[in-house]
Amino acid sequence: MSVKIAPSILASDFANLQKEIEMLNASEADYIHVDIMDGVFVPNISFGIPVTEAVNKHAKKPLDVHLMIVNPDQYLEAFKNAGAEIISVHYEACDHLHRTLQGIKQLGCKAGVAINPHTSVELLKDVIKDIDLVCIMSVNPGFGGQKFIENTYKKVKRLKEIIIESGAQTEIEIDGGVNQKNAGMLREAGADVLVAGSFVFSSEDPIATIKELKKIQ
Ligand code: DX5
Ligand code: ZN
Repeated sequence: MSVKIAPSILASDFANLQKEIEMLNASEADYIHVDIMDGVFVPNISFGIPVTEAVNKHAKKPLDVHLMIVNPDQYLEAFKNAGAEIISVHYEACDHLHRTLQGIKQLGCKAGVAINPHTSVELLKDVIKDIDLVCIMSVNPGFGGQKFIENTYKKVKRLKEIIIESGAQTEIEIDGGVNQKNAGMLREAGADVLVAGSFVFSSEDPIATIKELKKIQ
């Protein structure tokens, strides 16, 4: 199976969001990655529930919602109602991660956990069977267009071992600084889903760029 591609609309033209979503619908993208930033958990504010709803109105691909917010439990239902199929919360923002994961699943969504670059994959061992997707941040969350952190490969490999050892079905997603140069090595290390923001949206032909990324086995 080829790698899944999840373009991040954070890098899209917000004034032409409908056109951007239609472009993604026509592409080989697997998910639409939706970055929610609250200005508290991360030093930036992106957009929230009404914009997610508007995206969902046009989207023909599953919305992969990445919550970079404090108190995510408070907003899970709202994002589910706005169209999220996958909801990822940050490990660092959850005091009771196991409970939060159950809450996401009870809503009928896939449960994801995102981890910051400084957070060890070992910390997920005891809940790995409850996680549908681990989003390994390969930049510090908050901004698009940052430089990929090389230590990520090691984390992907170790997480893959943990998943296999425990018999879990968890997907590994990589988020931040993904491009044609590192995508192949990330796939080799065990990545299942690649998020790509600026690499896709600042390319001349985003549909062709997504197609290229999809060629990675
Ligand atoms: C960073 C976001 C990423 C970001 C990726 O906080 O979570 O999803 O949009 O953008 P690029 O691919 O430009 O690093
Ligand atoms: Zn993201």
